[in-house]
Amino acid sequence: MRTKLHIVTGGCGFVGRNMVKYLLAKTVDYILIVDDLSIGQNPITWLEETPQTKTQFSFYEDRVIFIQEDIRNILRSYSSVHLNIEAFLKAKVQIVDVYHFAAVVGGRMKIEEEPLAVAIDLSIDAEFFNWVVKYKPKRVLYPSSSAAYPVSLQTELNHRALKEDDINFDVIKNPDLTYGWAKLTGEYLARLTAQKHKIHVACIRPFSGFGADQEASYPITAIARRFVNKESPIDVWGSGLQSRDFVYIDDVIECTLKALDFVSNGDAINIGSGKQTSFLEIINVFSKISGHQAEVRRLVDKPVGVMHRYSNVQKAKELLNWTSSISLEDGLRLVFEKHLKA
Ligand SMILES: NC(=O)c1ccc[n+]([C@@H]2O[C@H](COP(=O)([O-])OP(=O)(O)OC[C@H]3O[C@@H](n4cnc5c(N)ncnc54)[C@H](O)[C@@H]3O)[C@@H](O)[C@H]2O)c1
Repeated sequence: MRTKLHIVTGGCGFVGRNMVKYLLAKTVDYILIVDDLSIGQNPITWLEETPQTKTQFSFYEDRVIFIQEDIRNILRSYSSVHLNIEAFLKAKVQIVDVYHFAAVVGGRMKIEEEPLAVAIDLSIDAEFFNWVVKYKPKRVLYPSSSAAYPVSLQTELNHRALKEDDINFDVIKNPDLTYGWAKLTGEYLARLTAQKHKIHVACIRPFSGFGADQEASYPITAIARRFVNKESPIDVWGSGLQSRDFVYIDDVIECTLKALDFVSNGDAINIGSGKQTSFLEIINVFSKISGHQAEVRRLVDKPVGVMHRYSNVQKAKELLNWTSSISLEDGLRLVFEKHLKA
């Protein structure tokens, strides 16, 4: 029998870390993380044990192998990486699920101010799907994004709950900058991989995922910290009236796993709460949770992106029997409490 290996690219980032912890808790399999730590956090800070180290990788909790490297270098030299893993584990290894979270993401500032840096995702994804076709893992998860939706459906005067078929590959409409274009292209490659090469691939389109261990460049973390520090005024980017669909990370992970179970042809599924919440409303909820009342200062020179972005959740409900279960208030409380203790 072969030893099972899950691969989590970008496994030290926000979604990746949460996926690795889930796989550690719910499976008995080996997990390979490849992350260049350009944004991600070294596993030594979020996994329990001190690692054993081997020349190319660190080994945690007897099951997690970590390689700090640009994923593209690993994909290009994968046959020797695989041999090293087999030599280290003294077993034949079968790749089962691959979660491809490695990407240049960043917050709004990065997406708007460094569009060419974000376009590196096109290169990462092209190399990734070529690797998939060559090594044929059992199943592949590709995280697209709500940023792939046409921005023309997210304006002040024209917005609606975004539905999966608002993206039509026969009539492509402008998505959110290079980040959105990279995700659209990634989805297209995912479909080709599934349909032409008969490999099980699922795509997800998460909306605004948030959680207690998200980086400070994201708005929920940034606002939570302002409340923990009892700042006054509390800064908000733009008018604060722009809205998003916030979904807690545990819900994102749960829906991702279901999507991988139910979708194999490269199709995409929205992951959201289906609710529209403005940043001013987020501030109100934090006010209630923290008991701290403060003036709001609107920073109108900061980038804010589209005006309204929120999901239609029908497909996840019908196909996966899934809806988000952690309320916005409960999620924000978890974030606030984490930063209070930090
Ligand atoms: N967090 C969300 O709510 C959300 C929403 C929509 C889509 N997504 C998608 O999910 C994926 C993960 O998002 P995230 O929020 O965890 O982002 P993140 O920035 O926290 O994680 C990305 C990880 O990839 C790593 N990385 C970047 N370039 C790399 C490279 N060349 N080689 C190896 N590692 C590299 C980074 O160090 C980081 O750890 C991304 O594809 C993102 O577009 C996330």
